[in-house]
Amino acid sequence: MISAIAAMAENRIIGSHGVMPWHISDEMKWFKDKTMGHTLVMGATTYRHLPKQLTGRKVIVVTHHDLMLFEGDERCDNLLKLLNEHRNSKAELIISGGASIYEQAMPYIDRLYLSVIPGAYAGDTFFPELDPALRQVSCQSMRGFQIKTFER
Ligand SMILES: NC(=O)c1ccc[n+]([C@@H]2O[C@H](COP(=O)([O-])OP(=O)(O)OC[C@H]3O[C@@H](n4cnc5c(N)ncnc54)[C@H](OP(=O)(O)O)[C@@H]3O)[C@@H](O)[C@H]2O)c1
Repeated sequence: MISAIAAMAENRIIGSHGVMPWHISDEMKWFKDKTMGHTLVMGATTYRHLPKQLTGRKVIVVTHHDLMLFEGDERCDNLLKLLNEHRNSKAELIISGGASIYEQAMPYIDRLYLSVIPGAYAGDTFFPELDPALRQVSCQSMRGFQIKTFER
């Protein structure tokens, strides 16, 4: 199964200069809890800006280059091959950004966990257009954000 997790402001901003333009500790905790024990897929820009290794999770980093990785993480230079290999797997592969990876993976995403942050933020990276086949199945109000879940 292929899922995706993202946090987006109401004006669709997800990033600014390589990082997220907000600090919402409950949202970070939600990301940690949801992804713990899973394999994540991330673009090289997002990975390069990680402040530290994501413990308890393996990251597959999509890049054309020979990047320095944290121990246990892997590099992938063929995203579509990776997605096709995981399509029918029971294990949940979690697409974790940034924008270029969400966009390329969109047709493969079975479930999307989208945190919506109230307000408009300044930034340079936007969440791509949702695949219309993804329908909202729930909306949960949290402290400082909402979690909208979409399923194909
Ligand atoms: N709010 C959120 O939930 C969230 C989550 C994640 C990230 N973000 C934000 O998103 C922003 C980064 O997004 P981004 O779109 O600029 O960058 P990105 O998707 O993180 O990484 C882009 C890089 O990934 C590699 N890449 C992408 N597609 C590839 C492919 N098909 N094959 C091989 N390599 C590929 C390339 O790296 P090489 O040049 O090394 O080949 C490319 O430059 C940051 O601001 C970050 O904070 C936000």
